[in-house]
Amino acid sequence: MPIKPAHRLAMLPPYLFADLDRKRKEAMARGVDVIDLGIGDPDRPTPAAVVEAMVEAVRDPATHRYPSYDGMPAFRRAAADFMKRRFGVALDPDTQICALIGSKEGIAHAPLALINPEDPVLYPSPGYPVYRVATIFAGGTPIPMPLRAENDWLPDFAAIPKSAASRATLMYLNYPNNPTGATADLAFFARAVAFAREHNHVLLHDAAYSEIGFDGYRAPSILQTPGALDLAAEFHSLSKTANMTGWRIGFVAGCADIVRAIGKVKTNIDSGAFEAVQRAAITALNLPDAVYREINETYRERRDVAIAGLRKAGIDAQPPRATFYVWFPAPGGDSAKFAQDLLERTGVVVTPGVGFGPEGEGYARIALCRERARLEEAMARIARA
Ligand SMILES: Cc1ncc(COP(=O)(O)O)c(C=O)c1O
Repeated sequence: MPIKPAHRLAMLPPYLFADLDRKRKEAMARGVDVIDLGIGDPDRPTPAAVVEAMVEAVRDPATHRYPSYDGMPAFRRAAADFMKRRFGVALDPDTQICALIGSKEGIAHAPLALINPEDPVLYPSPGYPVYRVATIFAGGTPIPMPLRAENDWLPDFAAIPKSAASRATLMYLNYPNNPTGATADLAFFARAVAFAREHNHVLLHDAAYSEIGFDGYRAPSILQTPGALDLAAEFHSLSKTANMTGWRIGFVAGCADIVRAIGKVKTNIDSGAFEAVQRAAITALNLPDAVYREINETYRERRDVAIAGLRKAGIDAQPPRATFYVWFPAPGGDSAKFAQDLLERTGVVVTPGVGFGPEGEGYARIALCRERARLEEAMARIARA
């Protein structure tokens, strides 16, 4: 008897990166020297001090048992200290922080904790695909908030249909933004908090790229906004900022009711993050600023190589102030066709903007997760093509 997957799986768009990966593998099988600028996965190793902390932690049998669901007290304390030191936000580690198995886990579980079937959920498009998928899994109705160049890639709250705004139970935001590299300031966050209060919905801010900034830019936290702790929570991750994508560790911080609700879902689905990873993450949260500065300097250099290369190819690319993404107009306008042609003609993989939602059509994204020499080679090929 053929197994029929649940209807909700049929409602999902094809997972963008899986599709891209298949095309990349096909090209490699044909012997093409592929340069993959598609997926945002840091190529540099995790800082040595974090690896050392992990080795030590994993030797301690105390870490081998089930972890606590919401994270070790020492991890939650380190996360709270980070929020205080970095953003000036004071949080109670016992009620306003919960450890996550990567921020994706919390982002994906949040609608199960916070919405009811058919509730509208507002999410940015183009955007990280998980906001929409998680909404669908929880039976909600995803409502895109278009991000447009003329609004500096910020959603226009006034353009949200009144009926959706008044019935929405949740809004996702993400700055520094994937895929556009855009940033938001505290004035924008204040508008978002005011809108959420007016319409009585929860605000979830994805700050996975908070530590990656250039030219002196440092991203703010939405939790710095007065009143945010009543209705907002923020997702943080060590994946992108400390080269730890494989370790699966992050946290959610903010409004105690939101943190508790997400924790309740987790209690019933997973059993928390490996304690050895949490101990290593404490080291990561306390790394000297110089380590993060060096990571950022690497991306800044690569960003400048990418921008110069794209401009040389006649593409009007703007340098982002944050994230390791460069978002640029796809020549010809059809981003999937552009990405496919580019792969065929140059062996360079970029991500078509349409993969981040229909509102991303007309653009493409480069991830700066390759060594400078490879990036230069990719840019030279693009210029030739
Ligand atoms: C915007 C955004 N949020 C969250 C994540 C998830 O990161 P992690 O689960 O590794 O913390 C990603 C990863 O690509 C992302 O781009």
